[in-house]
Amino acid sequence: MIPIHENLANKVAVITGGSGVLCSKMAQELARQQVKVAIIGRTESKVEAVKEEIVAAGGTAVAITADVLNKDSLLAAKEQILEHFGRIDFLINGAGGNHPDAITEKEYYEANSTGLSFFDLQENGFSDVFSLNFTGTFLACQVFGEALLQAENPAIINISSMSAYTPLTKIPAYSAAKAAINNFTSWMAVHFAETGLRVNAIAPGFFITQQNKDLLVDAEGEYTARSKKIIEATPMKKFGEPDQLLGALLFLLDFSYSSFITGTTIAVDGGFNAYSGV
Ligand SMILES: NC(=O)c1ccc[n+]([C@@H]2O[C@H](COP(=O)([O-])OP(=O)(O)OC[C@H]3O[C@@H](n4cnc5c(N)ncnc54)[C@H](OP(=O)(O)O)[C@@H]3O)[C@@H](O)[C@H]2O)c1
Repeated sequence: MIPIHENLANKVAVITGGSGVLCSKMAQELARQQVKVAIIGRTESKVEAVKEEIVAAGGTAVAITADVLNKDSLLAAKEQILEHFGRIDFLINGAGGNHPDAITEKEYYEANSTGLSFFDLQENGFSDVFSLNFTGTFLACQVFGEALLQAENPAIINISSMSAYTPLTKIPAYSAAKAAINNFTSWMAVHFAETGLRVNAIAPGFFITQQNKDLLVDAEGEYTARSKKIIEATPMKKFGEPDQLLGALLFLLDFSYSSFITGTTIAVDGGFNAYSGV
């Protein structure tokens, strides 16, 4: 079990996508560290379920229904959070994901193949995925940023991906957006460096979750060919477990560990990003 970071006690963290597979684990761990957490997602039952689990375990949480692509709904969320907790110390931008409308059927272009080719991708499908993974982070930074600037030792953690470095096949919109997240993380870090607000990112390797399970697990529950390629390209030869992201999260949030670290993206990937394939 991860040791308790005493500096985190009573801090307030906003977690967009906090009802998802990876970020609900983050919310639970932060609550165990006595951080008060605000869980944001669009589906009330999902955010409530994560809140209930945290409260049942003795933590403090509030469930907020909001859409990271709707600035008014984020502004309303901010008001609710400030009413509950009085301030905001940390923002974790976890809302993200993919959609079949922005995924090509084939890895490589084949004339006359069936399924969505690059030329079939619709502008809406592409821009929706790009927006969710990039603009949703930009808007949340804007909306919660001023409150963060009032806090002592505030921090933003953006959630990137392996796709940010070398794009994965089939998912051009997601890859472009995650590359933009790394770039934006650096930009924000520089822009706010003198204020004390630190901005970093975590780039998870491969974890089987809701957003990617159709690509990674077939109808029989077996690994797809894509999963097998991922494992082959991951030197540790396995998918990650969501708990394995928590050490990097706590390290980046805890000022006593990372006070001189801003603008960096930490890969938590079993070596995927280090491996050339040879
Ligand atoms: N799984 C992986 O292997 C992996 C790898 C690298 C990076 N990531 C990144 O890690 C983050 C979490 O991924 P995950 O796999 O845990 O995803 P997930 O289980 O699908 O969770 C996504 C979360 O985002 C919320 N969400 C989606 N659209 C939203 C919107 N417009 N406004 C507010 N909330 C929204 C979802 O709830 P609602 O649908 O109810 O809104 C859900 O809580 C994402 O940024 C993802 O890109 C994942």
